[in-house]
Amino acid sequence: MAVQEYTFRIQRNRRTKQGEIETRWQEFRVEAEATTTVLQALDEIRGHQDGTIVFRQSCRSAICGSCAMRINGRTRLACKTHVGSVAKDGVVELAPQANQPVLKDLAIDIGEFFKRVRHINPYIQEGNEAATSVTSGSYDQVNHVTQCIMCGCCYSDCTMAEVSPEFIGPAALAKAFRFVSDPREGKKTERLQQLSEEHMVWSCSRCAMCVQVCPKDVAPMEAIVKLRTRAMAKGYTHTAGAKHALAFHEDIQKSGDLNEFTLMMRTVGLFGTLKETLTALHLMKKGKIPSPFPHQAEGVGELGKIYQILEQNPLDVETKAKEVVPE
Ligand code: SF4
Ligand code: SF4
Ligand code: FES
Repeated sequence: MAVQEYTFRIQRNRRTKQGEIETRWQEFRVEAEATTTVLQALDEIRGHQDGTIVFRQSCRSAICGSCAMRINGRTRLACKTHVGSVAKDGVVELAPQANQPVLKDLAIDIGEFFKRVRHINPYIQEGNEAATSVTSGSYDQVNHVTQCIMCGCCYSDCTMAEVSPEFIGPAALAKAFRFVSDPREGKKTERLQQLSEEHMVWSCSRCAMCVQVCPKDVAPMEAIVKLRTRAMAKGYTHTAGAKHALAFHEDIQKSGDLNEFTLMMRTVGLFGTLKETLTALHLMKKGKIPSPFPHQAEGVGELGKIYQILEQNPLDVETKAKEVVPE
């Protein structure tokens, strides 16, 4: 295969004596084939051009998760990413994972990430909801989630983690789904209650970034949506997120359109709405206050039929949830 020269633009980070992170960019040229991995190129740079570059690696087979870094703006595994598939005009830009403290160059402190995973008790717990038999069907539900290698790619690119550092994050929630869905788990309801609290399942904005970047097809957002469904089925509908979802459901079923005028009131109540008065005034100034009169969408009758079909034939997730989560 043809060899060509690529430019590697690498973010060099170091901690100053005052504890601040000092950042600069450094360029290296590497002769490589399009199928050379970013990790192989980094090894080449460290071995022959600059032995001081710090980055993590171990398995080189997309199994250990330690080489996750931002490669041309997206968090990926360096050992699974071919140079030719990401280079833009021959340039590959490397930076450490986002949303986590940087230690040096491309290495981050993964402790914060694991703190979140530990928070959901990542083990089977004893309790009265543990099933006595396990079917192969029940394993199918968690199969994809168990592929997680704890690389942190999803957390690094999560848009909510960026604006809300308290958010538990996609990997921890995918892990929680794995235990809520495990027939052997004894405290499924308690878990769903915990997952309904602040900074948990309802804090996800459903941007799908975690689904896009996960190198093992875990699809954390799908797990989060299923957790929401199960939590609501158990009656945990007190949160703003759950109320928002129910209000959406109600409006669309009734009129095919959202009544945005009352949506906030139904989501966060009068006090919460009053707290947003300034935002409302700002919107009013820009002419963006929605009409207080509900609008009936064309063809709403057809929509009613869709709801009827869905209610008679529950979605896969709900069917499976009923099998796994005891009533
Ligand atoms: S879908 Fe949710 S968890 Fe996934 S990246 Fe977006 S905000 Fe984060
Ligand atoms: S869910 Fe995917 S991206 Fe997130 S930690 Fe697990 S393997 Fe990595
Ligand atoms: S080195 Fe193990 S996943 Fe890349």
